[in-house]
Amino acid sequence: MVVPVHIGIIMDGNGRWAESRGLIRTQGHLEGLKTAKRIVKAASDFGIKYLTLYAFSTENWKRASDEVSYIMGLVKQYLRAELEFSRKNHIRTRFTGDMEGLPKEIRKEIKDSIEATKDFNGMQVVLAINYGGRNEIIRSVNKFARENQQIINITEDDIKAYLDNPDIPDPDLIIRSAGEYRTSNFLLWEGAYSELYVSQKYWPDWDKEDLQAAIEEYNKRERRFGGITAA
Ligand code: FPP
Repeated sequence: MVVPVHIGIIMDGNGRWAESRGLIRTQGHLEGLKTAKRIVKAASDFGIKYLTLYAFSTENWKRASDEVSYIMGLVKQYLRAELEFSRKNHIRTRFTGDMEGLPKEIRKEIKDSIEATKDFNGMQVVLAINYGGRNEIIRSVNKFARENQQIINITEDDIKAYLDNPDIPDPDLIIRSAGEYRTSNFLLWEGAYSELYVSQKYWPDWDKEDLQAAIEEYNKRERRFGGITAA
């Protein structure tokens, strides 16, 4: 079985999972965090090199402030509690998103985790927090323009070089839980040629077997990157 180098996951359905059980939405996010930990472990066991998790989008600020604070609290909890696990499994924390728009204490937790794990050579977990694909492209173009005022023809390579993590290969596979067939502003640039896999299961119900099924399905896909298959 060919294991994708980079998998991105849109962890959707926490709210519906909770509501279907008569629980409040935040309970769904709490279960969603437990699932994220399970899937990080499973992905590392499968030998995935990069795993990008869409934890909070630039659009998620529109939610009720209680829910937003609760998710931010979970992010903090994840970053702290996972340090021991990261050490044991040599997992490196990375970040993508608009850092400036995050609360100061979350910024600090993220930076501390990145610093503490920077020399680990196992899987890299990219946390997409306050992330939007359009926002990432706009930030890239603005950074480029500020530093290269004389250049008027921006190339693909220029935009790529100023994205959040130019060293990380584009995702081979993007997984979305909870049945919606859209990418919701996730890895717009990087995901141009990613295979998409939609699972009907809500994120809190996801397990190692679901990740395995997604990887098996990926193995059946034929990736042509806009070309044609050789005869
Ligand atoms: C989508 O479900 C989920 C989110 C917006 C939050 C995801 C956050 C976590 C799982 C916790 C933080 C994780 C890490 C790895 C730090 P939804 O609320 O949109 O579900 P719904 O569509 O059913 O309402």
